[in-house]
Amino acid sequence: MNRKLYIKTYGCQMNVYDSGRMADVLAPLGFVAATRPEDADMIVLNTCHIREKAAEKLFSDLGRLRPLKLRKTRSGGRLVLAVAGCVAQAEGAEILARAPYVDLVLGPQTYHRLPEMMARLEASGTPVLDTEFPPEPKFDSLPDAQALPGVAAFLSVQEGCDKFCTFCVVPYTRGAEFSRPAGAIIAEARRLVAMGAREITLLGQNVNAYHGDGSGGGSWRLGRLIRALAELPGLARLRYTTSHPGDMDDELIAAHRDVPALMPFLHLPVQSGSDRVLQAMNRRHAVADYRATIARLRTARPDLALSSDFIVGFPGETDEDFKATLALARDIGFAQAFSFKYSPRPGTQAAQRDDQLAEEVKAERLAILQELLEKSQSDFNRSCEGRILPVLFERSGRHPGQLVGRSPYLQWVHAPMPADYRGRIVPIRITAAGTNSLAGEIETAAEAMA
Ligand code: 5AD
Ligand code: SF4
Repeated sequence: MNRKLYIKTYGCQMNVYDSGRMADVLAPLGFVAATRPEDADMIVLNTCHIREKAAEKLFSDLGRLRPLKLRKTRSGGRLVLAVAGCVAQAEGAEILARAPYVDLVLGPQTYHRLPEMMARLEASGTPVLDTEFPPEPKFDSLPDAQALPGVAAFLSVQEGCDKFCTFCVVPYTRGAEFSRPAGAIIAEARRLVAMGAREITLLGQNVNAYHGDGSGGGSWRLGRLIRALAELPGLARLRYTTSHPGDMDDELIAAHRDVPALMPFLHLPVQSGSDRVLQAMNRRHAVADYRATIARLRTARPDLALSSDFIVGFPGETDEDFKATLALARDIGFAQAFSFKYSPRPGTQAAQRDDQLAEEVKAERLAILQELLEKSQSDFNRSCEGRILPVLFERSGRHPGQLVGRSPYLQWVHAPMPADYRGRIVPIRITAAGTNSLAGEIETAAEAMA
């Protein structure tokens, strides 16, 4: 008998990937996707702990689900409530103490054991907690992906982080750095392509620190893996995220020069434009190193568009430090960027510092930086007006007769387009640019090229 599964995903793309894999693990138990939590026999909240109020948000979501569970129990049914992801890893037993109606608490490294946990829950009727870092990597026991991946798919190649930036919880919630063997990644990519994916984004918390066993021996770095994946017939586009500036090695930069399938877009978080702050963050590189890396990347691939993450209001950040961040952002000219107020995370070094900044200072700095970054993004988008960009169409647009897809630079592009162009790369003349997307129309003269 089919049971219905509803997964709510918070946070990063790695969580999106993990949610898909959890559905794969639960499929043999008879679970199929529900579109609404109200219809579900099992609800998984796949949580994120990267910034503030994650736990509060989780408890308020759980509070809202509790009546659903009560209603289901009263009518003789059963709703299994599971909390997965990084808040589960960080808070563990605290979740069961505060929300005793939760049935399962599991971390990002244990979800391959979901069937076992379900069996334990059914046998004992008491909640099950599994937030271990098991010695066996979960990837070894995950089933092949079942769900159709869509035109643009995610593939986890690396997980965890050994860098210990002083603001970040990832090394604690995701654990030590781990790279999957290249052969397993290539096999998964081949399956994704067979199921219809034309673009794959390689995921990792520190993806360019990748150092997996190569197929045929030795250890491969990310550049080598990208070259191998680019050979797969039917795979048109490759991307990877998220990278650390210190791990942009020669091989990876050369891949940007040599591999046409590797898209000319790179998310390379810098966090701050001040050496003093970078040092306090334990980022292990200086601003000049970042600029030099960007210069080398642009030599390799002149049209490379860049994206970044910034944190403002790190403890002890002065006006001078902040101005240096503005200067760096202005000089590089990011095509896209994410910026956040520093948020003290439990258990991290920076949270213990006694020179935390006032909320108003953080808010003011964030507003100033965001204005600059938004303008930079609009300028980049506007520079695309009149150009013909190859767009990979992924899904229908808001208006009838419209499809939406991605440009090589990760911009959303919408255009009037027959529905069967989904999954195709089409030359589109860009006619209008907004801050967050582009509009265009098919360039018929160039269509033959596609
Ligand atoms: N406070 C604010 N932003 C953070 N990030 C990570 N930890 C924190 C924190 N404690 C941001 C960084 C990172 C992105 C994923 O989230 O910019 O690159
Ligand atoms: Fe966090 Fe730094 Fe590791 Fe990125 S490199 S996941 S910011 S500790």
